Order: sequence, then structure tokens, then C-alpha cells
Amino acid sequence: MSTTNKGLEGVVMGQTMISQVAGDAGQLIYGGYHIEDLAGNATFEEVCHLLWYGELPDEADLDALRTRFVQGMSVDDRILDVIRSTAKSSHPMAALRTAVSALSATDPDAEDKSHDANDRKAVRLTAQTITLTAAIARIRGGGDPIAPRADLSLAANLLYMMRGEVPDDLAERIIDAALTLHAEHGMNASTFSARVAASTLADMHSAVTAAIGTLKGPLHGGANEQVMHMLLKIDRPEEAAQYVRDALGRGEKIMGFGHRVYRTLDPRAPILKTLAEELLGRGGETRWLETSSVIQTTMREEMDRRGKKIYPNVDFFSASVYYTLGVPIDLFTNVFACARMAGWTAHVIEQMKDNRLIRPKAEYVGPKDRTVTPIAQRVSGAGHG
Ligand SMILES: CC(C)(COP(=O)(O)OP(=O)(O)OC[C@H]1O[C@@H](n2cnc3c(N)ncnc32)[C@H](O)[C@@H]1OP(=O)(O)O)[C@@H](O)C(=O)NCCC(=O)NCCS
Repeated sequence: MSTTNKGLEGVVMGQTMISQVAGDAGQLIYGGYHIEDLAGNATFEEVCHLLWYGELPDEADLDALRTRFVQGMSVDDRILDVIRSTAKSSHPMAALRTAVSALSATDPDAEDKSHDANDRKAVRLTAQTITLTAAIARIRGGGDPIAPRADLSLAANLLYMMRGEVPDDLAERIIDAALTLHAEHGMNASTFSARVAASTLADMHSAVTAAIGTLKGPLHGGANEQVMHMLLKIDRPEEAAQYVRDALGRGEKIMGFGHRVYRTLDPRAPILKTLAEELLGRGGETRWLETSSVIQTTMREEMDRRGKKIYPNVDFFSASVYYTLGVPIDLFTNVFACARMAGWTAHVIEQMKDNRLIRPKAEYVGPKDRTVTPIAQRVSGAGHG
């Protein structure tokens, strides 16, 4: 007998070698490596190699991949024109979704679904998403896109193309770690979207465009943006406890808390918290950390009182980190997309290696056995919307 799982909670849709999300233990593991180890000891480029090829690169592998990233980063003028015509009048994630979709018009492998073509597209799409995100920020700010620099890492290029200056070592290291932490996360909603599209044997650009649209939502990638709006609304850390209680009293969720899989602390949150402390400790605005700390304490008390296990997630601390690094608030989710493009493309490749159409069922609960009345005799009703 079929069972109905609202939100597909607990459903295992297949096997993967890309990552393991151990919700009860609060562990995130990419290809056998714990996220704490990767964030401290490998660059985002190395993590991309791990996600796509199952192994961390040696120096020669990494040099070869870096060369491919550099070659892949530039974006055709036609795509920059798409951004020019959309970026100011749409949300940056909508602009990114449109631009990534348009990239297929300039990609020599667009309709080639062979493994080699998918591998080439994964590298290009990951590099290009960084270029597009920075271009969206520039154009929205009234400037012109800045071309990537071959001598910079992907993380440094993201900040350089966005802000017009090469970041210092700490800023580069922090963005690099944030990209690693967001690169992959099991069968999350956007990755599932990508795999569903790939399972129809649609092309990689279609799959990652679906994923970007899915990431945009405030219950998924859009939460980091909402966290920053919340932090900005709270004028002083002393007001944070009341803010949280009032919001919960109105039945609202506090953004940056809760997770479908982690029933304990999201392992990415403390890593980002440490990075935030390092960044803000060098003269940044400590208000965000103080306010965040009061929100965390109040949530713990309030959730304990309600008997719920709700902990901070990755977005709770990434918000103040991105804000301090000068990333515009409405571009936070785009930075998430830059990282997750590596995971999405890895999943598309894995799906296509051993494909079966993803096609769950729904339990029908609507009216039954009705017959059509001629239209002139029908009484108008509200319907079920
Ligand atoms: C992530 C999220 C969508 C997970 O959803 P889910 O697994 O469907 O969990 P539910 O929404 O069923 O939550 C279970 C209970 O905890 C409560 N809850 C969950 N997240 C909460 C939050 N952030 N603030 C307050 N209460 C929360 C729900 O209201 C629900 O209470 P109820 O049982 O009384 O109805 C959810 O926690 C959320 O909306 N968080 C805020 C958005 C966010 O930070 N997203 C980023 C995820 S990385």
C-alpha cells in the first residue's frame, strides 16, 4: 500500500556518492570528507573536483581544473545584454535564472548530453555563475561588469568582479569557505529539482535553471536575505529577545532556524559563526553578532518551552558575513547559487549516469464520480481555488 509523505519527508529517492547529510548526528560529509575538514583545509576549486570526480585533486589535477575555470569564466556579450535588460527590474535571482537559461544559446555543448559534454558544462556553468552574479550586482548598482582575472581564485574573482577591488586574504578565505559550505547538501529542494529535470533527459542548462528557481524561495536559499532584513530591523541587541517573542507570537517563523533534515545544530552554522567572529572582530560591526547571539538564546528558550527542536542553520550566520563583505542583501542567494552550482551539476551528472525518470504519485482527495452539466445550466461556485 502507498503511503503519503507530505513534502516527501523521509523518502529516499535514490543512492548518491556525492554527499551524506547525517541529520541526527549533525554531520555533512562530501565524498567521505567532513565539512569541517574541507572548509578548513581545501579550497572551493578542490571541493568542486571532489564533487565531480569523487577525489580531491593533486596539484596537477588542480592546475588543470583552474585552467578550465579561467577559460570558462568569461561570458558572451549577448548574455551580459540579457542581464542589462533584466537586472534592474527583477530580483537578482530572477536575473540569474534568466541569464543561466540564456547561457545555453552560447554553449557549444548545450544539447550534448554525453558524460564528457556534461563535465565541460559543469565547469563552465560553475565559473559563469560567479561572473553572472557579479555582473548582476554591478549593473544593479549602475556600473559596468568587470572581466574576471586569470590570476585570482573563484572566490577572489567573485568579490573582485562585484566590488571592483581585489579582496584581502581574510575576505577571500571567508568567501572561499562559504562557497565550500554551500556547495552541496544531499537531496535538498533545488538539487531535487535539478535531478527531476535531468531524469527526463532534459539538458544540463534546463536542470540548473529549474534548480535556481527552486533555490530562490525563502524557505530554501532565500532565507539568508530574510535573516539580514531581520537583523537590520532590530535596532539594538537588547531588543532582539522581544522581537523574536513577538514574531513567534504572530505565528511567524524566524528565518535562519530550523531544518528538514538536521534535528540538531546544522554543522555549517558554527563554522560560519567562527568566520563571522573573525571578520567582525577585525573592526566590523559587532552588533550583528550580539543581536544574533540574543536571537539564538531566545529561540532556544522559546523552542524548549514548546518542546520543539529548532536550531540555527547555515543561513543564520552567512547573512552577516556577506553583508560585512559588501555583498548587496538581495544578492545573498545568488552567492549561494554560485556555490551550489557545483553540487547541482554533480547531481545532474550522477543522475544521467544511471537514470530512471523521477515520477512520484499523488493521493487524490478531490470529488469523485461527477458528470458534466451543460455550461448554460451550471451554477457558478467558488471551486477549490
Ligand atoms: C527549513 C524549514 C522550511 C523546514 O521545514 P519543515 O521540515 O517542514 O519543518 P516545519 O515547518 O514542519 O516545522 C516544524 C515545527 O517547527 C516550527 N518551526 C520550524 N522552523 C521554524 C522557525 N524557523 N521558526 C519558528 N518555528 C519554526 C514550525 O512552525 C512547526 O511547528 P508546528 O509543528 O507547531 O506547526 C523551516 O524550518 C523553516 O521555514 N525555516 C525558516 C527558513 C529557513 O531558515 N530556511 C533555510 C533552511 S537551510
